[in-house]
Amino acid sequence: MNSLLELEGKAALVAGGGQGMGRAAAILLARAGCRVAVLDVVVERAETVAAELAQLGAESHAIAADVTESQGARDAVSGAVKAFGRLDRLVNIVGMASWGALLELDEATWDADHRLNLKQHFLVGRAAAAQMIEQGEGGSIAMVASVSGLFGAPRHGAYGAAKAGLMALTKTMAEEWYPHGIRVNSVAPGSVRTPRIMAQQASGEAPSESDPDAARWVEMDDIAGALLFLSSGLAKSVTGQTLVVDSGKTALFPFSMS
Ligand SMILES: NC(=O)c1ccc[n+]([C@@H]2O[C@H](COP(=O)([O-])OP(=O)(O)OC[C@H]3O[C@@H](n4cnc5c(N)ncnc54)[C@H](O)[C@@H]3O)[C@@H](O)[C@H]2O)c1
Repeated sequence: MNSLLELEGKAALVAGGGQGMGRAAAILLARAGCRVAVLDVVVERAETVAAELAQLGAESHAIAADVTESQGARDAVSGAVKAFGRLDRLVNIVGMASWGALLELDEATWDADHRLNLKQHFLVGRAAAAQMIEQGEGGSIAMVASVSGLFGAPRHGAYGAAKAGLMALTKTMAEEWYPHGIRVNSVAPGSVRTPRIMAQQASGEAPSESDPDAARWVEMDDIAGALLFLSSGLAKSVTGQTLVVDSGKTALFPFSMS
């Protein structure tokens, strides 16, 4: 199976790998034979997951950095290169929604949402691509967008706009770096049962399990599987795309037929 994925021995960096779907992606990449650098702004999270991967028999490394800072983005890539001598795969799941109607949203929250969900992808993606171009053997970048970027996103408009921007950025990166053999794709999840979302549900910040607007929940491993596919040789002709993983929620006809 692993030979089908063509990931054996590849050096991967998972930004936001310290918990949730980032951790799930790091585990799948390690099981597919990658050497995995786990990056997180919370150092204990990165170290815990790196230790978990080592227990699975994978070569792993923990990196602490804030990727919303340009120095942090550079440190992320140089940390992986220091550990493994090269970088072949980037999976970047860092992102989070703030909640609030546009009329009440302050500018600082808007800016923070865009730094976390859009700008950092430009910073980390660019640093990773420069390294891959220097190596001259291509590579792959897979990022996490959201279905909130496909439609209007009431109460999380800044996030939706940033994720829409990320899907556009995915296409531009793919086009600009295609000549270098670097593929760039995104995954747009629907509602995913992650530790953060479950905690937000408990506090009433995020929609509850039974909320029809957030129905058809998907699991973290489903997103990790999509990221693995996009990072693998099975997707060697797939670039500039966003793969929606939402149990079909956005495939529904949006208007009432009755
Ligand atoms: N959970 C959902 O329902 C859902 C739905 C659609 C899209 N998404 C997207 O999926 C992605 C992951 O979501 P999640 O719920 O697994 O997230 P999470 O908050 O559980 O995990 C994100 C990880 O990234 C780390 N991180 C945060 N800021 C960072 C920074 N500046 N630098 C480095 N690391 C940082 C966090 O410490 C955390 O470990 C996000 O991009 C989110 O927008 C989530």
